[in-house]
Amino acid sequence: MTKPAAKPRVAILISGDGSNMVALIEASRAADCPYEVVLVLSNNPDAGGLAKAAALGVPALVLDHRPHGKDRQAHERLIDAALREAGAEYVALAGYMRVLTPLLVEAWAGRMLNIHPALLPKYPGLNTHQRALDAGDAEAGCTVHLVTAGVDEGPILGQARVAVLPGDTAATLAARVKAEEHRLYPAALARLVAG
Ligand code: GAR
Repeated sequence: MTKPAAKPRVAILISGDGSNMVALIEASRAADCPYEVVLVLSNNPDAGGLAKAAALGVPALVLDHRPHGKDRQAHERLIDAALREAGAEYVALAGYMRVLTPLLVEAWAGRMLNIHPALLPKYPGLNTHQRALDAGDAEAGCTVHLVTAGVDEGPILGQARVAVLPGDTAATLAARVKAEEHRLYPAALARLVAG
């Protein structure tokens, strides 16, 4: 039997719960998934996603940003070194809540993607669901995009939409959008790595 071809290696950056990270890893276990996840990296030692990554058998690493103070690039140099050490070819930001400097953005241009809980270009930044509700939007959703210098900018790789329902709160809307995030992100990453 011939050995299956190696799949493109993906690292995932998280800061919190890591539910999108779990979705990416679980999808990667399908035989026909074109990527594998080789590393999970968190800037937050308390991120809930770290234990989930370990439970799924993916190496999980903490690189705390706090010892570096305002020197974001010093922190990013360590991240970049860890990504290269793991042999990563793509980087998926999954609830990674640090703004990146050009150091990482340029090093991974075209190979770093992000998921954002809004239909970009609407609502970059935080509190996306409350902003959609306050604006009276009929629909909300999420976007996967390539990471470029501007926060939550960059070419869009895919979007998923949900209807805003009567009585929705930011929490109920976030939960429905999150379910779509978990479908959209693995599919968009698979399309990117498959070219
Ligand atoms: C997700 O909703 C993701 O879209 C959002 O953080 C959440 C992380 O959840 N990302 C951003 O707001 C980035 N601008 P998770 O840790 O459960 O995947």
